Amino acid sequence: MRLVILDEYNLASEWAAKYIRNRIVQFMPGPDKFFTLGLPTGSTPLGCYKKLIEYHTSGDISFKYVKTFNMDEYVGLPRDHPESYHSYMWNNFFKHIDIDPANAHILDGNAPDLQKECEAFEQKLRSWGIDLFVGGIGPDGHIAFNEPGSSLVSRTRVKTLAKDTIVANARFFGNDLSKVPTMTLTVGVGTVMDAREVMILITGAHKAFALYKAIEEGVNHMWTVSAFQQHPRTIFVCDEDATLELRVKTVKYFKGLMHVHNKLVDPLHSMKDYKN
Ligand code: GLP
Repeated sequence: MRLVILDEYNLASEWAAKYIRNRIVQFMPGPDKFFTLGLPTGSTPLGCYKKLIEYHTSGDISFKYVKTFNMDEYVGLPRDHPESYHSYMWNNFFKHIDIDPANAHILDGNAPDLQKECEAFEQKLRSWGIDLFVGGIGPDGHIAFNEPGSSLVSRTRVKTLAKDTIVANARFFGNDLSKVPTMTLTVGVGTVMDAREVMILITGAHKAFALYKAIEEGVNHMWTVSAFQQHPRTIFVCDEDATLELRVKTVKYFKGLMHVHNKLVDPLHSMKDYKN
């Protein structure tokens, strides 16, 4: 596991975006070789998406041969509702880049058969395999919508939201609890564990306890993000505030490795230089 600690949110977002850019560019995607990227929603990844859009605009990266798979979606919220994850992804990311809409996969929370929808999504993920799954967490340590107590080998499925999550998400629905959807479709912990690589973004003091549970204590289904201790390639990208509950020793240890980690985000030649 790598723990990358940046001073503040914007720097953490930039680091994450550069990492994604480098991974895609190094992969050299093409019509017969798509890069597959798992993506989260929430406020945390917004800065990272903004930076990726900048890299796209400056010609450093193309998403033409990238397939994306989103982690989750609310059940029953119209697709064009401003708070649906479809709207979020299109408004904050996809409409600003050159991704083919057919390559942007988001679970359909209005599918007539939700179970079938989940199975088909899981099947797609399995057949493509995810090169890099980017995730975020809730303050209770949930990844995607894998709430406390979710099976750590779970797959894509219908999920009822925990009260804490409904309360946390109420800010997106005019602070009206009755407007927050109570059911979602979500990839499972096991689904994300299958990715070749996982990058989890954790910023803010309100996530500090979750980061502590994620990396300094054992694997525990009450803190589903802790499952990634058992993934061979996980990077946690966080800001200083998120490290507040970690031991000083842990923070010093990982900060001491920053010169190594920073090599991963060194500028690469732009994608145009890689055209064959
Ligand atoms: C929701 C999403 C998660 C996301 C979490 C954190 O629960 N399902 O995928 O990681 O919110 O959101 P934020 O980044 O706004 O704290």
